[in-house]
Parts: sequence; structure tokens; C-alpha cells
Amino acid sequence: MTKINIPLVDLKVQNKKLMGELIPAIEKVIESGNFILGQDVREFEKEFAKYCGTKYAVGVASGTDALVLGLIAAGVGEGDRVITTPFSFIATTEAICRVGAIPVFVDISEDTYNIDCAKIEECIVAHKKNSAVRIKAILLVHLYGLPCEMNAIMRFARRHNLKIIEDCAQSFGSEYRGKKVGSFGDAGCFSFFPSKNLGCFGDGGIITTNDKKLAEKLMMLRNHGSFKQYHYSEHGFNSRLDTIQAAILRLKLRHVDKWIQMRRENALDYNRLLSSLPGVVAPSEPKGVRHSFNYYTIRIKDNAGRNENARDSVQKRLGKNGVATAVYYPLSLHLLTLYKRLKYRRGDFPVSEQMEKELLSLPMCPELKKPQIRQICDIINDSLCHCGG
Ligand SMILES: Cc1ncc(COP(=O)(O)O)c(C=O)c1O
Repeated sequence: MTKINIPLVDLKVQNKKLMGELIPAIEKVIESGNFILGQDVREFEKEFAKYCGTKYAVGVASGTDALVLGLIAAGVGEGDRVITTPFSFIATTEAICRVGAIPVFVDISEDTYNIDCAKIEECIVAHKKNSAVRIKAILLVHLYGLPCEMNAIMRFARRHNLKIIEDCAQSFGSEYRGKKVGSFGDAGCFSFFPSKNLGCFGDGGIITTNDKKLAEKLMMLRNHGSFKQYHYSEHGFNSRLDTIQAAILRLKLRHVDKWIQMRRENALDYNRLLSSLPGVVAPSEPKGVRHSFNYYTIRIKDNAGRNENARDSVQKRLGKNGVATAVYYPLSLHLLTLYKRLKYRRGDFPVSEQMEKELLSLPMCPELKKPQIRQICDIINDSLCHCGG
């Protein structure tokens, strides 16, 4: 087979197409000289909140900061227990630990790879029985772009008086029963890392909320804890979304629905070509949910007994043929040496641990071409038919 070259994400094609709009928007900010919390930040925050169906949105310097500030503003702090998934990027638990709270892991569902709702309540009840410290919040992650089961989660939140923080870094534009992610909990935390569904030209993030007090607290926290110039009610952060990034994001926001639709069409093409392959499980989209496919991630069941894990041999074969792929995530968070003190062990979260060996993210971006998808699927087919060779 002739060598091809397909990156995991191609940002260049999209940026090139937008260049005619981007340059004047950036020039306008340069001419204004207003680089910090300028007009574009205020306008973008309004437009973003409207898109998500929330009352407020507060721009910050990254998705990680969005999580840290979101947790603090929701009142999560020193010693608080926060339920979360062991199957996410480090930023999720990093934020919990940064605010002095303690992650309490709950395994993921085999069908969605999101936190398993049936196990959340078990965890809350067990925790109430065995510990003097109660659970304060749930930090959930809509992984790869697939929303969590928000009806059930909001029910637990009401029943047990929990704060809900949504990690929407991978799920901008996703919907659960007609409502956008980031509009359910106390705070929705988004990343504008360049490869996200809505990405800027560097780091950036935002927090959505319907709570006026929480929004005011966030505006203060991101700006050194200042409520009025040179007046501070507490120590905060220097974590503001740059005006230039906001100008770029405003422009991209106008195109983003079309790009998400293109992602969804690419995912459908993949599904069609892959779902009949033995041992391959295409991503699910439960009823009432709209996946935004920040990642297109398949499961390749590990056929125990073979010399090499099936996912690993498929990944190797794709790599040899010039197709970039990624494993999100090769090690569950509870197994990181960083969290040794939490005393989790291998075997505690079997689904998460199994998915470390079986999930593979394939190239995905709006501009991916049908023939490229076909080439990728042919290589996967070939690899699986050669018995993992
Ligand atoms: C699930 C998740 N949470 C948080 C983040 C952090 O976002 P940022 O890189 O903007 O800090 C990421 C980034 O990839 C992520 O995937």
C-alpha cells in the first residue's frame, strides 16, 4: 500500500480558508491597543453564553484555569471530596487537587466511556456510611464530545445537595436532550486549546453559569481578586482570555455549527465502514444526545491470548502507513504515581483499566476527506484480517 500522510488533526486547512476574515479582526485589536479584557472579550462572552443557553460566560486563560476557578467559585476547597472519572486528561484531577480538594473516582460506563451514573449514587451512599467527610461536588467530563447522563446526574445533585461542575473541554457544541453541555451544572468549563471544536491560536478557556454571584466571583478571581481597580477582596489569579484570542473566537463561533456538522458526517462515514469489522466498536450516540466528535474514538477489543494487543497492532499498522492516531488515555488517573496517597490500586476501576488497552482515536477534523476515511478504514480492516500482525 502506498504511504499516505493523514494527521490526527489538521488545523492548517481551516485557518487558511479563514485568513481573509482573521487578519482584519486581529489588526483591529492591534489598532485598538486594548489587549487585556478589551471589547472583543466582553462581546465574545455574551455570544458564547447565548450559544450555550446560559446567562453568563467568563473568559479565562485556559481550560485548566476554567476548572480551577470554576471549582473555587462553586465553593469547593480544602479537604472537600469531589467525585470524578478516572478516565480523563490530567487537568480534570489536577484542578481538584489544585484547590486542595480530594478526587473520589467512580468507574466509567463500557458503552459511553463517561462516568457510570449507576455507580455514582453507590459511591455517595458508601461515602456517607464510611466517612465523616461528605461528597461536596461532582466534576464530570463529557469525554470525546459525548455528553454524560445529565438527567440522572442533576437528580443526584438535588438529592444529595452537590455542586456540579462540567468539564466541557472536549465537548463544545454537544447537546443533551436539546440543551448544550455547560448549561446544566453550577459551572461549565471549556478549553479553547487549538485542536478543540472551538479553538483559538494559543491557550484560552471560559466558564459558563446561570448564577450571577458565581459569575461575579469568577470575574474577580480571574483578575487578581480585584472588584475595583487596586481593591482586592481576596487573592485571585492572572487568568484572562486575551482580547486577540476573543476576536479570533468570535469569528470562529459564527462557523462552528457547520464544522460540528462536518465532524458528525465524518463520524457517520467511519461508523459505516468500521462497524462490521470483528472486534471493533464504533462510538455510541445514545438517544436524545448529540455528540460533537472532538475525538473519533473506537474500541478494538483485546483478544486475550494473542501475542500483541489488537489495538496496539492496528495503531502500529496505521502509523507505518502514515496515519497518525492517539491513545486517550493509556493510564487511568487513579493509577498515576502522583495519586499514590489516595491508595487506589489496579483492579479498582475495571472498565477504565480495560479501556486503556482498547481505545484508539483516529484522525478527526471537519476537513477530513471521505477518501482519507476510506483509506484509514482499509488499513484497519487489513490489520485485523492479518490476525493482529
Ligand atoms: C478533558 C479535559 N479537561 C481539561 C483540559 C484542559 O484544557 P487546557 O489545555 O485548555 O488547559 C483538557 C485539554 O485537553 C481536556 O481534554
